Amino acid sequence: MLAHKGVWLLGALLLVAVIALAYIQTQQRSPLTTTNEPHSIVTNFKEDAKSTRSFTWYTNSSNSATLLQIVKGTSRAANFDEQDILRFTGTTTTIKTGDKSIQGVHKVNATGLEPGTRYTYRVGTGKGTDWSEPAEFVTEAANTTDFTFINVADSQGISKQDFEVWGQTLSKAFHTFPEANFIVHNGDLVEDPEVEQSWDYFFGYAKKWLTSYPLMPVTGNHDEVEGNAARFVSHFNLPDNAAKGSTPGTNYSFDYGTAHFVFLNTESNKKKQKEWLLEDLSGTKQPWIIVALHQGPYGGKQEDSIIKQWVPLFDQFKVDLVLQGHNHEYSRSYPLKDGQITTQENGTVYVVTNTSGNKFNDKKADLFYHQVHFQNKKQMYSGIRINGDTLTYEAYDFDDVMLDNFVLQKPSVQNTM
Ligand SMILES: [Fe+2]
Repeated sequence: MLAHKGVWLLGALLLVAVIALAYIQTQQRSPLTTTNEPHSIVTNFKEDAKSTRSFTWYTNSSNSATLLQIVKGTSRAANFDEQDILRFTGTTTTIKTGDKSIQGVHKVNATGLEPGTRYTYRVGTGKGTDWSEPAEFVTEAANTTDFTFINVADSQGISKQDFEVWGQTLSKAFHTFPEANFIVHNGDLVEDPEVEQSWDYFFGYAKKWLTSYPLMPVTGNHDEVEGNAARFVSHFNLPDNAAKGSTPGTNYSFDYGTAHFVFLNTESNKKKQKEWLLEDLSGTKQPWIIVALHQGPYGGKQEDSIIKQWVPLFDQFKVDLVLQGHNHEYSRSYPLKDGQITTQENGTVYVVTNTSGNKFNDKKADLFYHQVHFQNKKQMYSGIRINGDTLTYEAYDFDDVMLDNFVLQKPSVQNTM
């Protein structure tokens, strides 16, 4: 009798063990097969900012749908069950993010939107609770002549703490410039693009801003490593007008308001980008031209190869402002033309807005072109407002103290005054 009971007990224990093992296995597999919740959600400009808006996110699934739902109005009033909901379907691709891990990469571009309109959206697979939390965005207003954007650089972190700081820098920037319409990031978003967790942190700790305000990224030396920018571009849905031979999304241009923005990739294909740049700048009629790139020709130090390749075109087309990264210190040039200091109406100003993350470099030697040059070892951000013929630039540190500012005026205004 006792032996009989013993067999039953052993059997029951075995059964429990088998169930527990099976459960553990499902749990281990689950991030790859069952958890489809969108993460690393970010919004971009891909086409006309007045009528379109693009989105990218990752899931832990390789085969879930890419759905976007948009309703007019604030998130508080949003009702995704109503009739006049806008529905979009995008593309799902996969990317390997480690030895065994495959992630779903979801990209979609909403079209047919109305200018100057507040919308609320959510993204997901459409199954059950897989929708993202609703977030708001506002399209560019028609005939915009007054707008503001935030400029940051080199968030370049690894740890959770690094990206907490990045998120806080962005929160401070939006606190100082609540009217900002989008963000320009001058490259080196994460330290190692192959470490997916750092991307999770990058988007996660700035979620409040990156789900609503387009983050327009420059490709830095930590974003394209040895010619490979696959992970970097997988995270964004950017204008598809790169130079021949450049990875789409690493080099592009777009318009907002009265400005033409040109994003160059200093990490590869510089010659072809020079041809592209000539064509791109010849084709714009926008009064303001802003260039963003990572390794700056006139940053903390001079980059001779960039000066040789691209600066003659900046001079020829009178680029107003060049936003640079890479140096992890603060610098601003005098207005420059042909490698010499000139008047504001004839020259181009080059800035590096220090880092928005945790890494600071020693201040390099002062050079002839430095009007402002320092290392304060505090994260910084700037707000750039273009209002008619006036551009106002203000750079702040992490404690919201303004450390530099200047105004650029279009000659047309000066001539008529
Ligand atoms: Fe950097």
